[in-house]
Amino acid sequence: METWDAIRARRNVRDYSDRPIAPEDLDRILEAGRRAPSSRNWQPWDFVVVTDPAQRAALSKVWQYGAYVAHAQAVVALVGAIQAEERQRLWQQFDHGQAVMSMMVAAADLGIGSGHSAVGDQELARSVLGLPDDRVCLSLMPLGYPARRPLAPLRRPNRRPFGEVVHRGRFGSR
Ligand SMILES: Cc1cc2nc3c(=O)[nH]c(=O)nc-3n(C[C@H](O)[C@H](O)[C@H](O)COP(=O)(O)O)c2cc1C
Repeated sequence: METWDAIRARRNVRDYSDRPIAPEDLDRILEAGRRAPSSRNWQPWDFVVVTDPAQRAALSKVWQYGAYVAHAQAVVALVGAIQAEERQRLWQQFDHGQAVMSMMVAAADLGIGSGHSAVGDQELARSVLGLPDDRVCLSLMPLGYPARRPLAPLRRPNRRPFGEVVHRGRFGSR
């Protein structure tokens, strides 16, 4: 897929087919995350890739609405450091968002769907992933080929209108 097509085709996928993700494709997605930009290039992330079904099932319980995580072919857990300062915590979240989006576009480019799951039960996530005490799991990104509709550029995305979101020069100028 072209980048522009991958950007338009990415959508939140929660129903995954049984088709496995080739290891080199999974590595390419992770490499996209590794290359993401970050504040002062501090790269405040580690990615724990989970493919084992029992481990995925355990991870699906860290968020009360995360059942779909168990059915993904792979789950990437986004791990950061526990930040003492609020400012650092916010930058870390911002940078994790950049890494997640890079990985999602790389996945879409391969026709692989991606989703998000929040982490409610941090202690469970920490134990399933074997995280050290100074680390935190910020989010989960389940991956898998869509069970139904293959990824294709969305013609009418469910978004606020362009003219409402985009301001020219000054807020409120269209
Ligand atoms: C920070 C964040 C957390 C999210 N958490 C969840 C979640 O826990 N469960 C879920 O089904 N979707 C989750 N989503 C997906 C959004 O609901 C989804 O991206 C949004 O509705 C737009 O739809 P689209 O991704 O198909 O374009 C999350 C998205 C973000 C950015």
